[in-house]
Amino acid sequence: MTGSLDWEKIILGLKRTTRDFLETVVDNLSESIIVTDLEGKIVYFNKGSEQIFGYRAEEILGRHILLLGVRRPNVLKEIRSGKTFRGELVHTRKDGVNRPTYVTGIPLQDEHGRPIAMVGSARDLTEEKEINRLKAFNEKVVTSLNDGIQIADRNGRITFANHRFQEMLGWEREEIIGRHYQSFVAKESLEKFVADLESWDPDRGKKVLETTYVTRNHTRLPVLVSTSYLQHDGQYDGMINAITDITEVKILKEELFQSEKMNLLGKLAGEIAHEINNPLSGLILATQMLQQDCEAGKPDPRHLQRELRGIEEDARRCKRFIEKLLGFSRKIPEEKKIIRVHDLIEDALLLVQRQAELDNVAIVKAFTGTELLVWGNANNLQQVMINLVNNAREAIFPAPGKVEIRTRSVVRERRPLALIEITDTGPGVPPAVLSRIFDSFFTTKEKGTGLGLAVSKRIMEEHGGTITVSNRPQGGASFMLTLPRP
Ligand SMILES: Nc1ncnc2c1ncn2[C@@H]1O[C@H](COP(=O)(O)OP(=O)(O)O)[C@@H](O)[C@H]1O
Ligand SMILES: [Mg+2]
Repeated sequence: MTGSLDWEKIILGLKRTTRDFLETVVDNLSESIIVTDLEGKIVYFNKGSEQIFGYRAEEILGRHILLLGVRRPNVLKEIRSGKTFRGELVHTRKDGVNRPTYVTGIPLQDEHGRPIAMVGSARDLTEEKEINRLKAFNEKVVTSLNDGIQIADRNGRITFANHRFQEMLGWEREEIIGRHYQSFVAKESLEKFVADLESWDPDRGKKVLETTYVTRNHTRLPVLVSTSYLQHDGQYDGMINAITDITEVKILKEELFQSEKMNLLGKLAGEIAHEINNPLSGLILATQMLQQDCEAGKPDPRHLQRELRGIEEDARRCKRFIEKLLGFSRKIPEEKKIIRVHDLIEDALLLVQRQAELDNVAIVKAFTGTELLVWGNANNLQQVMINLVNNAREAIFPAPGKVEIRTRSVVRERRPLALIEITDTGPGVPPAVLSRIFDSFFTTKEKGTGLGLAVSKRIMEEHGGTITVSNRPQGGASFMLTLPRP
């Protein structure tokens, strides 16, 4: 057969050039090759060995292999009895660092088959071990995480889901793998989910979306989805999503809204008392007078009618106020509908006007001439207005002053918005705390809760709106609210 190797010729050639062979080939291998005699004296030490063990050849040639720190197992013993050794062991580098290595020790035999030397080859396992450890660690983290994890390929098909994800949704792994990652999003939430994802610039890091998933038994599960895109050679190569069950967070949030609302109502106690007491007093007075008339036996029909009308009016005033109050305190968190912004403000003012009057704070309205409609939860948005007007009043007090509420209709970046601006003549927000006033529990007041603005911010964000603050050049604070118009 042409091209077949003439081994004899090659080996003879090698013998003549063994030195060359060692120096040019073996010496330049990145693997470590060491040759020792049967006593363990090192007779050859290549460059790869220098790399792994940290010794230079000239300082270690002629010395014992034990210098490399391998005491156990006794490799030389195996070699002397003609056996090959393969296995993992730990050696000590010249700098004293211990490293795991994979070693192969082969006996070199003379023509009678007697071992005369050992050729050892060593591979540093540090990196491999580290990678394996990381792999095991990652797997452990991913499987034991309290978050669901999905990995989707570039077509959006799920290629991996951890145990928690299966548990959250009640599907088996086989039912999840291969499905589109968006197929778990509830129908009514899908459009918003996709729009949110599309508006995301991946260069700005990971994206966190709030949405609703559907479980296997058709229940709705509120979740946060944190998405990171995967890249391969600079190309989009799928995504990894971490899914957090936020059922409890939602409940807590509702409770926070509610507790802050109740806190507001407590503060409004004076207002409530006044608003109901006044008409009630009038009502009692009118009935007493009518009774006296009756006792005197001469109820004048015209007088009677006027008094009755007054009584009815007073009673209706009480009823209207109590209805507003009930409406405000009721817990109907998610219900949203079309709201007239100006009505919303008037209703909120009804609950805070009296206290402002008592504190010598005038409330001035400067509403835009056109009707402003927004989509939202009147109850929660009222809470925002009350918070802001109360804060303004508290900032102004004890000096007299003015709170102004302006509304405007604008279009920004092609999006129609309703603007509500609340300005006051108080001292403004100290610049040092400007960045913290929206934090939960941040307050500068002795009896403050520090929740008013935090809750207001969340409510605005839930409506796709914003709340920002600035200090006016002429003094006083200005809070700007925006809400999308439908
Ligand atoms: N109109 C305002 N003028 C000046 N400071 C304000 C105004 N509104 C809010 N602040 C500051 O923001 C802080 C947080 O307000 P808020 O969240 O409503 O909590 P609280 O009213 O319970 O302190 C207030 O303590 C106050 O320092
Ligand atoms: Mg407040």
